[in-house]
Amino acid sequence: MSEEKSKILVTGGAGYIGSHAVLALQRAGYEVVILDNLVYGHRDLAEKVLQAELIVGDTSDRSLLDSVFAKHQIAAVMHFAAYAYVGESVTDPAKYYRNNVLGTLSLLEAMLAAKVNKFVFSSTVATYGIPKTNIITEELSQNPINPYGASKLMVERILSDFDLAYNFKSVTFRYFNAAGADPSGLLGEDHSPETHLIPLVLQTALGLRDSISIFGTDYPTADGTCIRDYIHVADLAKAHVLGLEYLLEGGKTDFFNLGNGNGFSVKEVIETARQVTGREIKAKLDSRRPGDPPALVGSSDKVREILGWSPQYSDLADIISHAWQWHEHRHGSSSGQGG
Ligand SMILES: NC(=O)c1ccc[n+]([C@@H]2O[C@H](COP(=O)([O-])OP(=O)(O)OC[C@H]3O[C@@H](n4cnc5c(N)ncnc54)[C@H](O)[C@@H]3O)[C@@H](O)[C@H]2O)c1
Repeated sequence: MSEEKSKILVTGGAGYIGSHAVLALQRAGYEVVILDNLVYGHRDLAEKVLQAELIVGDTSDRSLLDSVFAKHQIAAVMHFAAYAYVGESVTDPAKYYRNNVLGTLSLLEAMLAAKVNKFVFSSTVATYGIPKTNIITEELSQNPINPYGASKLMVERILSDFDLAYNFKSVTFRYFNAAGADPSGLLGEDHSPETHLIPLVLQTALGLRDSISIFGTDYPTADGTCIRDYIHVADLAKAHVLGLEYLLEGGKTDFFNLGNGNGFSVKEVIETARQVTGREIKAKLDSRRPGDPPALVGSSDKVREILGWSPQYSDLADIISHAWQWHEHRHGSSSGQGG
């Protein structure tokens, strides 16, 4: 750590990816303060598992933010707090622009006032919209097709303008599909409602759902189902620590894709989950959903080259077995099947 101020403020640190980032920061020797409104976050993970200081509050609460920066010596902020349900963003865009854009602007203004100018931001592959190529590099144009992606792109634009105007330095990560869980089994994904494929498949394995739907089996892919890039959440968290250290060492504002670099089809995910869990997982064939491209895989060349990042858990079986360990631990005893 190269700064006098040593604490890292993690917004959304009681959520899925944020909690894993807190753990990675703690393991790297940083003291962490979490700000989370607990709309989707879990108090037990922040306080019991991570034993971090949790401030329950919202990024739009400017006076709370001012008091947090006055009380703690914050060297940098990692900003995970956002709403991230693509479908809901289409039916209620105001909620997404208010939370993801205005909430972030409020946080950034509080940082300017407190003279904290280092920021790590969670953006998304959804900012690219429907790309013309299957392998996505950072140079592709960003044309989001839903308010969620647009809200993240707006923040990217704000960060670039803040750098020019205020010398505000940021690292933006555009994530592909975060998946898996900390190998300890103590942290993992617990969204409600759940929309991500791997937890839905594992909930089916636990008997919490009857079946998993496969949307589209006639795509131009080897087995006809969609291919996506799943990145292990511990690898995502590791990249955030590297991004933070790059900024603390004086790095310039930059943006990076964060993906595994390998794509896995929906059928491959379900088959691997059957092998890992040894359970029956019923699949239902359904028609395509509008706006789902056949394959989305991220190039991670830039983050490897500039931040020296590489994934430790790129195997689908590792990703699913860590997630399974967590799901059994968190939900297994209530399913009547697992334990
Ligand atoms: N999960 C993914 O695959 C994925 C992919 C791309 C991008 N992202 C982005 O990564 C970030 C974290 O995603 P996640 O899957 O961990 O989601 P999550 O919902 O588990 O975590 C977000 C946390 O932020 C909190 N929060 C939301 N708005 C807040 C506000 N205004 N003030 C304080 N706390 C607030 C929630 O209570 C929650 O704990 C989000 O910004 C999301 O858009 C996630």
